[in-house]
Amino acid sequence: MIAKPSADGIGPAACFVGIWLTAKSRRKSENTLDHGRRAVGSHWCLQDLNFASIDIARTRERDDIFALVCSASLIESGSDLYTHNLVRYFAKDAEVCDWLQDHWEPEELQHGQALKAYVQHVWPEFDWNSAYADFLKQYSKLCTAENLEPTRGQELAARCVVEMGTTTYYQALNSVCDEPVLRGLAWRIRNDELQHYGRFYRYFLKYQSQEPVSRSLVVAALWRRLAELRQSDTEIALRCAADWRFGERKAPPSFDAIRKQAFGLVRVQYPIKLAMRMTLKPLQLNPRFQRWTERPIAAIVSRIMLS
Ligand SMILES: [Fe+2]
Ligand SMILES: [Fe+2]
Repeated sequence: MIAKPSADGIGPAACFVGIWLTAKSRRKSENTLDHGRRAVGSHWCLQDLNFASIDIARTRERDDIFALVCSASLIESGSDLYTHNLVRYFAKDAEVCDWLQDHWEPEELQHGQALKAYVQHVWPEFDWNSAYADFLKQYSKLCTAENLEPTRGQELAARCVVEMGTTTYYQALNSVCDEPVLRGLAWRIRNDELQHYGRFYRYFLKYQSQEPVSRSLVVAALWRRLAELRQSDTEIALRCAADWRFGERKAPPSFDAIRKQAFGLVRVQYPIKLAMRMTLKPLQLNPRFQRWTERPIAAIVSRIMLS
């Protein structure tokens, strides 16, 4: 049973939802975010979040919540690495490039800044900047243009998988945490991710009409990116968050124990049906065949996202 998501804890102006980056682009992102202005077209900004009202007592002792929020803050903050690769890949498509640079990247970076601010309010002693430097050092080796899909249509299908992963992750986080400000933030980000999914899906359809790829190639792209979800950025981010927070304890918990605890919490309210529908959508199956595939796909998605 999925708890009804809530947007509690949102501030008064609320509504709903690198290292290779060019200097110009980075300046644009920083300016967009640091002064409390909305990213172009975004429905919210950092100043809409009332960090002073965080119920710190509810989350401060929760190692699982820390691991989930902090690892997400590291991944989102590194979004500029991926944007750079995608913009180069879609260089001849002004519509896609403009959206990536003017909307997608600022919104993903805003997610990173908001989650970082939350971490710093609740766990002020945590050295976020050092953990992030550690994360970037490792992640930048994996986040390369060579890892993009062989065709643009396949890459867009794969992006749908990533946005599915983030949408369902933040929806689950919203459902399992009981601190109102974090619930509100998770719900805003979840809505942004759902919109990103819709946009990537729209571009996928555009490329399918211009330079179609077979369903089997789309399946291969979806499969590769699903497998990557747990092997790349999530794993690295979780490890960096855990090392910098728990490393100096007298008896630090093992990484496996932290991972189990964090994903165990997400599993409680993971929206598996939504994950399945979003994963299958780029295959454009007929409804009868989709019903037949739902069970095995649910098992695969659940194993990848939650094990
Ligand atoms: Fe995001
Ligand atoms: Fe996104």
